[in-house]
Amino acid sequence: MRWCSGKLQLIAALLVVTVVLWGGAGQAGDRAELGNIIKTIPSNGPFWKYGTLEMHRKTKKAGMPAVIFPHWSHRAQYTCRVCHQELGFSMRSGDTGISRSKYVSGKYCGACHNGVTAFTVQDGPARQCDRCHMKDTRKLEKQFEEFAQDLPFASFGNGIDWAEAIKIGKIRPKNTLATGQAIQQLPEKLKLPMKLGTAAPRSDVTFSHEEHFFELDCSACHPDIFNIKKKSTKDFTMESNIFGNYCGACHMLVAFPMNDCKRCHSQMNGGYSPQ
Ligand code: HEC
Ligand code: HEC
Ligand code: HEC
Ligand code: HEC
Ligand code: HEC
Ligand code: HEC
Repeated sequence: MRWCSGKLQLIAALLVVTVVLWGGAGQAGDRAELGNIIKTIPSNGPFWKYGTLEMHRKTKKAGMPAVIFPHWSHRAQYTCRVCHQELGFSMRSGDTGISRSKYVSGKYCGACHNGVTAFTVQDGPARQCDRCHMKDTRKLEKQFEEFAQDLPFASFGNGIDWAEAIKIGKIRPKNTLATGQAIQQLPEKLKLPMKLGTAAPRSDVTFSHEEHFFELDCSACHPDIFNIKKKSTKDFTMESNIFGNYCGACHMLVAFPMNDCKRCHSQMNGGYSPQ
């Protein structure tokens, strides 16, 4: 039933708004504040498109179709850490400076797209340029339908509950491309979830290092996104999050988006889940 997801998402979004407003804060001021915050959250697009990047900075000039990079298929096989720490991809679109000369020499996409791990970037009689430089995304959309079918459902983002998919073993992303490399351990004292108090007390947020450590190294967040001292991050409001800062650096682009209030604000009764 994923084909009707657009409508479902709209309904879900509206329900979230109404449920949050009804069940929500007792005071009119809080209510107006919530309303304004919610209005600035973009609506969820088609599930397959969430986290799917169009890369055309260099291709346009070269007369090649844009490259389409789907996070969903890749993250099912590799944790964020593999690409964003080990292989040096930036988490800012366009920032890495990927070019043909770099990837044919085995960097970036070429670390895997070498004809062994995945189809090759090299030229030759068996060239497969068009599998990345896609003129048309219909095949990819169809691939998504099949891919998502067996995975646990979530209302927003890819329509996939990625955390649950890992928990129940539906996907088992690799943590490194190297063999036998030791993975850093999470320090004991970071194992307890942390409470982040908010300006509006009913909206307190729980953040768990452990839930993130599975996918990400410390350097993904510290010191660029968050200070390492609790409650020291400046201007850490919902609004700044929605504009892609702090939690929003991932939770608006690749990880489940901010539309899914209840997954961060456990006390909000604004959760709505179809099915
Ligand atoms: C695994 C995916 C992948 C494959 C396969 C692939 N490319 Fe690319 N290609 C990219 C990416 C990523 C970029 C950088 C896109 C950007 O930022 O504009 C790129 C950029 C380019 C550019 C722009 C010029 C430059 O210096 O970067 C050309 C030309 C190009 N590719 C040609 C080819 C040809 C020819 C083939 C097949 C022989 C091919 N590509 C196969 C991913 C791929
Ligand atoms: C197979 C490699 C790969 C994996 C795995 C991967 N990413 Fe990425 N990611 C990329 C590439 C490539 C880019 C684009 C970099 C560029 O344009 O310079 C990117 C960009 C991003 C961006 C910026 C997107 C935007 O629209 O601006 C975010 C955020 C991000 N990744 C988060 C994640 C998270 C979180 C995970 C794990 C759940 C993850 N990535 C897993 C390769 C990967
Ligand atoms: C860590 C390994 C890894 C990296 C890095 C990587 N890929 Fe892939 N990619 C794969 C694997 C594995 C597949 C599926 C294998 C196959 O079909 O040959 C795949 C498949 C794809 C597909 C086909 C559609 C799909 O998702 O199945 C596209 C398009 C693609 N990659 C683009 C890229 C681009 C563009 C980059 C660099 C920006 C990149 N990949 C970097 C491992 C990687
Ligand atoms: C997904 C993002 C993310 C990752 C990955 C991450 N952290 Fe944090 N960390 C946070 C946030 C958010 C805070 C709270 C910041 C605040 O309140 O201003 C925090 C706070 C901390 C604190 C202060 C805790 C306290 O009780 O005062 C320490 C120490 C810390 N992190 C260490 C680490 C280490 C070590 C790693 C890697 C094992 C790591 N972090 C990985 C997001 C992250
Ligand atoms: C560097 C990227 C990144 C940042 C920054 C980040 N997260 Fe996450 N978070 C993830 C990824 C990846 C997952 C796995 C689930 C997914 O992709 O939807 C996740 C999962 C979670 C989960 C678990 C959901 C569940 O159902 O188990 C919660 C809650 C969460 N994040 C809250 C936060 C909060 C609150 C912040 C800011 C203080 C934050 N995250 C910052 C990447 C990030
Ligand atoms: C990825 C996690 C995440 C999601 C999803 C999320 N929030 Fe937040 N929210 C935060 C964080 C982090 C803060 C600020 C925490 C702090 O101040 O320490 C916050 C703060 C708030 C506040 C307090 C006022 C303020 O600006 O600080 C309200 C109200 C709020 N969020 C409402 C919502 C609503 C409504 C939704 C769903 C539409 C939502 N949030 C979804 C993480 C999230």
